[in-house]
Amino acid sequence: MKRLYDNEMKLEFSSKTCNEAFARIAVAAFVSQLDPTIDELSDIKTAISEAVTNSIIHGYEEGEGTVKIEARIYLDTVQIEIIDNGKGIENVEMAMKPLYTSKPDLERSGMGFTIMESFMDEVKVESALGFGTRVIMKKKITPKEDLKEDNLSDEKQKEDIKNTLGA
Ligand SMILES: Nc1ncnc2c1ncn2[C@@H]1O[C@H](COP(=O)(O)OP(=O)(O)OP(=O)(O)O)[C@@H](O)[C@H]1O
Ligand SMILES: [Mg+2]
Repeated sequence: MKRLYDNEMKLEFSSKTCNEAFARIAVAAFVSQLDPTIDELSDIKTAISEAVTNSIIHGYEEGEGTVKIEARIYLDTVQIEIIDNGKGIENVEMAMKPLYTSKPDLERSGMGFTIMESFMDEVKVESALGFGTRVIMKKKITPKEDLKEDNLSDEKQKEDIKNTLGA
């Protein structure tokens, strides 16, 4: 049977702040097969970081739980889903507004969803109170021949990607 996607990975980890860096580096490593630029990779890592942090802090309120990530590659586009079975969001439209936060006491700025939307091409949020939240993000990776000014040699590009993955 023909699959809709070219490649897929699934990841599951405990809802702990120390796993946030692991999650963003693991997704970046998966996405690197599309040969992204440093900027594209860094945008994806930032968006993952925001979504995973939200699952840990808001979904599970820093208690026990499991965060799942599913990433799929379709041609030159990556789709990444961050899933939790936490408390869910009552009003997704309101939650996605810039500066809205339900935890101002924790010095949250309410900019997580806005950051995801500005760094990714598409962000969709599905959530049900008491059941959890699924954030679905897509980003198209620019094919290298479309880059007008690519001053980096292949070797330099590879070196930069290695450094970013390790960051
Ligand atoms: N996975 C989630 N589960 C439950 N509620 C969530 C989840 N993700 C986001 N929310 C709700 O949406 C609100 C907005 O999220 P957003 O990431 O934009 O801001 P924030 O996390 O409050 O602040 P910041 O991300 O700037 O630190 C949160 O305050 C929270 O109420
Ligand atoms: Mg947030």
